Amino acid sequence: MVNKMKKNTDKSEIVISMDKICKSFPLEMGGDQQVLFDITFNVKLGEFLAIMGPSGSGKSTCMNIIGALDSPTTGTYKLYGRDISNMTSDELAIIRNEYIGFVFQQFNLLPKRTVLDNIMLPLMYRGMPMDERIRRAREMLARVGLEKFETYLPTQLSGGMKQRVAIARALAGDPKLILADEPTGALDSKMGNEILKFFKQLNRDLGITIVMITHEFDIAKYADRLIHIRDGHINYDGPIPKNDNNL
Ligand SMILES: Nc1ncnc2c1ncn2[C@@H]1O[C@H](COP(=O)(O)OP(=O)(O)OP(=O)(O)O)[C@@H](O)[C@H]1O
Ligand SMILES: [Mg+2]
Repeated sequence: MVNKMKKNTDKSEIVISMDKICKSFPLEMGGDQQVLFDITFNVKLGEFLAIMGPSGSGKSTCMNIIGALDSPTTGTYKLYGRDISNMTSDELAIIRNEYIGFVFQQFNLLPKRTVLDNIMLPLMYRGMPMDERIRRAREMLARVGLEKFETYLPTQLSGGMKQRVAIARALAGDPKLILADEPTGALDSKMGNEILKFFKQLNRDLGITIVMITHEFDIAKYADRLIHIRDGHINYDGPIPKNDNNL
């Protein structure tokens, strides 16, 4: 099923370019708290990158910048070669919708909408006609093996199934990049591994670039590259090490 889609090929293309990214948040009692310090790395087309680090180290902050959900305080961020630092929120929304599929720990499905509606909704924002939306959503549902569940509500599904619906929703827009923040955080390890096998397949067979945050080294191992962040600094960037003893 996955093989039918066109594969991205030009591996030299840089998808994500972070150059000396710093991020500070204002503190309530005044002043700032700096969360990211000179974060610099590139991600090439077709890479599968895992970002690890202790709680509070800045992983989600980093991911929010990559996903154009937040902007850096200083530094340059380019997505597909375009500097998005100074774009308006409307322009950023268009970029997100066109290029990025998001997958979150808590699935972020609309609880009162059916599985099919959840997948169709982002396509509506693209102005896709209704019949095409339905066709596309059904195709994605089949891809994640849930075609029999299109009329279900998310509350009637297991965690792993919910995450598969969320992945179908992310894939519906034909993204070049998937950003996943703790995608297995709410799943048991069996379901978590199944989701990761699916990511691996999307990456390998379709060439979709994946950036995934995880706490677990066993999950990070599915990726080809690891960035480890500690206190807002990158302290490792390279292939997946044999174990996580030195991170
Ligand atoms: N919107 C915000 N406003 C103020 N402070 C924030 C905001 N977002 C994050 N922070 C702070 O930035 C730091 C890093 O948070 P972040 O969510 O990036 O960590 P994380 O590595 O994703 O942690 P976890 O593994 O627990 O999800 C924390 O100290 C957090 O309190
Ligand atoms: Mg986080």
